[in-house]
Amino acid sequence: MSPALRLPIPSDNEALASWVPDEATCARWAGPLFRFPFFVDELPSLLAGPGATSFALVDANASSELLGFAQLIEKGSGVLRLARIIISSRHRGVGLGRILCQLLLAKASASPGIEKFTLGVYRDNPVAISLYSSLGFVEVPPSPRPEIIAMERSNSCG
Ligand SMILES: CC(C)(COP(=O)(O)OP(=O)(O)OC[C@H]1O[C@@H](n2cnc3c(N)ncnc32)[C@H](O)[C@@H]1OP(=O)(O)O)[C@@H](O)C(=O)NCCC(=O)NCCS
Repeated sequence: MSPALRLPIPSDNEALASWVPDEATCARWAGPLFRFPFFVDELPSLLAGPGATSFALVDANASSELLGFAQLIEKGSGVLRLARIIISSRHRGVGLGRILCQLLLAKASASPGIEKFTLGVYRDNPVAISLYSSLGFVEVPPSPRPEIIAMERSNSCG
């Protein structure tokens, strides 16, 4: 497999929606304010927002199958937020989440003026917290909500 990022295409929406079967999963993926349930066709507009760019993780040799999805959101002042990170339910636990984050960070690091990456993660999501910690993200109080941890890392960090 050759994991790579590409821009999303309309047929990705159905796969992405199928990985978000309930409200709790949706909140952990996209945050507590993301509407659930949603129609598949609504996803692009629900995911659109100021400074947000969406990316699909695919196998470069079979790029029609969606393996993962994520967003980079420009927050200004050299800050870039990683958001809406998710791996296909069928492909979790085999390293793709790490590859997705590494590809995002590599892409973002190349942008001029980026000094810091941020993200938010639910406290009860140990898999995601472990992944982000291993990539150099650390918790930075205060929490935006009691159930969510704010994390960040500098762009110079490995
Ligand atoms: C969080 C998520 C993206 C991780 O993707 P993944 O492909 O399953 O993760 P990987 O296989 O790349 O594993 C990366 C790290 O996560 C941790 N991890 C993975 N599976 C784990 C498990 N079952 N238990 C504990 N930690 C685990 C480990 O630290 C692992 O690193 P290691 O293999 O070097 O020990 C994925 O579980 C997911 O899509 N979850 C649903 C959506 C979500 O919660 N997104 C997070 C939004 S903040």
